[in-house]
Amino acid sequence: MRTFDIDSIKAKYKIVGRDARLYRAIDTALQVARTDLSVLIQGESGVGKEVIPRIIHDNSPRKTSKYIAINCGSIPEGTIDSELFGHEKGSFTGAIGEHEGYFGAANGGTLFLDEVGELPMSTQARLLRVLETGEYIRVGSNEPRKTNVRIVAATNVNMQSAIREGKFREDLYFRLCTISIKMPPLRDRGEDVLTLFKMFALDTANKYQIPQPIRLSPEAEQVMLTYKWPGNIRQLRNLAEQMSILCYDQHIITPALLSDYGVLPGSDSTDMTTIAGNAQDEQSGYSKERPIIFAMLNKLNKDIEQIKDQIVMGNPANNTIETSVSSFPANTSGFNTPTVLPYSPTIAPQDTTPTDIQPTTISDHTDFHHVVEAEEEAELIEENSDLNIEKMERKFIEEALKRNKYRRKMAAAELGISERTLYRKIKDYGLEEM
Ligand SMILES: Nc1ncnc2c1ncn2[C@@H]1O[C@H](COP(=O)(O)OP(=O)(O)O)[C@@H](O)[C@H]1O
Ligand SMILES: [Mg+2]
Repeated sequence: MRTFDIDSIKAKYKIVGRDARLYRAIDTALQVARTDLSVLIQGESGVGKEVIPRIIHDNSPRKTSKYIAINCGSIPEGTIDSELFGHEKGSFTGAIGEHEGYFGAANGGTLFLDEVGELPMSTQARLLRVLETGEYIRVGSNEPRKTNVRIVAATNVNMQSAIREGKFREDLYFRLCTISIKMPPLRDRGEDVLTLFKMFALDTANKYQIPQPIRLSPEAEQVMLTYKWPGNIRQLRNLAEQMSILCYDQHIITPALLSDYGVLPGSDSTDMTTIAGNAQDEQSGYSKERPIIFAMLNKLNKDIEQIKDQIVMGNPANNTIETSVSSFPANTSGFNTPTVLPYSPTIAPQDTTPTDIQPTTISDHTDFHHVVEAEEEAELIEENSDLNIEKMERKFIEEALKRNKYRRKMAAAELGISERTLYRKIKDYGLEEM
């Protein structure tokens, strides 16, 4: 395959990067596209596995037939067989009509089985049968049906360990990975980190009409190159989006700013190959915005602290308190995604939120009464704002921990905070796993 072909595929699917293993992955996808061989794509969560089956299908003789992508990890165990293989009328309670199932529906086309490592053992046996014979049986039927489906599967599970632990059938594994495509983790992709960051910063700037996309200082580039990126490109994209929005007034991203977002040189080095990702989460717009909301809360917290200090200290240099409190949403009404996000966001006024705080000008900061009033005001802010924010923060952290099965590294990456901060907050809020 010539580099020229790969470059045109990269442009078509908006794949960014020049890493040799990325090229090899695309090259293999193009070469196997014209065959019917099963393909298994392996790589950590967030490395960009999902584009590969699409490339295979679009470049195969099946391209005019159906392409169906299924996330095996998101279908409940009780219904997965019926979803995949269909069922007969009355085969179980609630089976009112008959159901074709994805293997029937994708006949002639391609079926992408994402998170295949999550399949229950009984379903694995059925899948092996289709792969070997091209036949499957609907739930509640004895009659084998023929189907002509090309299978592409993906997993972020370490298959060797899953086989050793008896969670995945070895025969199915060999059957699925007639062709194996490995997607490299972001930390091994060198300068691609910087190119990807630039692209995401530019995309976000365009999306929210930010006049100048954020840029990394040379020192910040070094940090990005040595950071381990446990959440890979997904994490990088979230970071670039958050920083584009929250640091738009600073333009140049420094190592200090990066560290506020938990990106530190050479940190987070755990091997994540066995950690299952949360592909379901990726699909909901709400969860995509969650880190942004969280970062906003963090910033809001800091701003409030700053206002309190300024009120009490009465620093003449800060007579007009410049703060982004008035420009960042404090969505204390619930946990919904703010309707207006970024470039120049506005707050929906709340009765008791910090948004009510008017910048206080202290002209004579030696005046005792002023100081007392200011202190009272600061206390009021404390009572009204910290309570809400802490409640929200606690809930965010608790949800992130549950979603990531209490894997703190993953939860921290999702929340966009450092692991150390997460540890501290878990302790503060008493959120240790029960
Ligand atoms: N090479 C790439 N160039 C641009 N964006 C990418 C690239 N690889 C992945 N992405 C983006 O990163 C995110 C995660 O990719 P995805 O395929 O869902 O990861 P995985 O399935 O491996 O967990 C997606 O938003 C995807 O668009
Ligand atoms: Mg995925």
